Amino acid sequence: MGRLSGKVAVITGGASGIAYGVVEMYVSEGAKIIVADIQAEKGAQLERRFPGTVCFNACDIRNEEDIARTMAMAEEKFGGLDVVVHAAASVDHKQKIADMTVEDWDDGQANLLRSHVMCIKHAVGPMQRRGGGSVILVSSAAAENFSPAASVLYVVCKGAVLYLARWAAFELASSKVRVNAIVPGPFATSMWGQLVGASREVADAMPVHLDEMMAGSQPLPRAGKPQDIAYAATYLGSDEARFVTGAQLAVDGGLSVFRPAVPKEKIMDYLQRAKVQAEEDLRSMGKSA
Ligand SMILES: NC(=O)c1ccc[n+]([C@@H]2O[C@H](COP(=O)([O-])OP(=O)(O)OC[C@H]3O[C@@H](n4cnc5c(N)ncnc54)[C@H](O)[C@@H]3O)[C@@H](O)[C@H]2O)c1
Repeated sequence: MGRLSGKVAVITGGASGIAYGVVEMYVSEGAKIIVADIQAEKGAQLERRFPGTVCFNACDIRNEEDIARTMAMAEEKFGGLDVVVHAAASVDHKQKIADMTVEDWDDGQANLLRSHVMCIKHAVGPMQRRGGGSVILVSSAAAENFSPAASVLYVVCKGAVLYLARWAAFELASSKVRVNAIVPGPFATSMWGQLVGASREVADAMPVHLDEMMAGSQPLPRAGKPQDIAYAATYLGSDEARFVTGAQLAVDGGLSVFRPAVPKEKIMDYLQRAKVQAEEDLRSMGKSA
């Protein structure tokens, strides 16, 4: 028996990075999963890798209808909904208030904050029909301990996600829907490529070149891996966490205790080098970068 046997989960952002690691662990722990993401080709690959266990739904988390359809699909395909892990996000936003337009703000906020509200809204009905459930919102350590590489949108929205988790835990406790936040530190994923304008393909090839930078980003001297978040998401999604709601679980190698001072120029220089290395990797494999 897996720790999530009999459970049905929606995992947003599951085509890549941290949430991809959550999908793998949820499968190994016995869950059935709807992956919601904008990367349809990778979603189809996941369905082929885990036939009958993972279904993909093309979903832009800025669109409420897409989110509603994703939650409904869990009931249609697998008979219910027990867990939502909302990890999808982008970091492709203007960094400073001075540069922000109304459109920039609204688009970034729809991605980084409103989507969390909509995921909860559309998960509650199906979860109530199962007698309860677990919603796991992925925030960021940058919300409380600012990173020079972060943007105002990212920090403010990820901070609001922490409050949202607490409010939703309060609002939904009587429905036995638990809501918790995971607070990751830096992880080597494709997300970092967006900060240096890398194409999706190049960004996907960058994480292997980010380990050294990540190892020096927090007290524990190694890079965090998606599996580290997956363990936390498995715990919070399982019945082992049945009395845990409104919590913030830091999975950050100690970053919330101490953030080493790394200047922005050094971070961007490291990312640029990783981008160049990733482009070389792709060329050596005969793929255009
Ligand atoms: N990587 C880090 O250092 C780090 C640190 C703290 C928090 N986080 C958080 O972890 C989560 C996962 O990030 P990651 O590092 O795995 O990044 P990633 O880029 O590897 O994965 C993000 C996924 O979200 C999807 N996505 C982006 N915009 C979307 C949209 N509009 N609709 C649907 N899907 C969309 C992408 O296609 C991708 O599959 C995010 O919430 C991120 O903010 C990451």
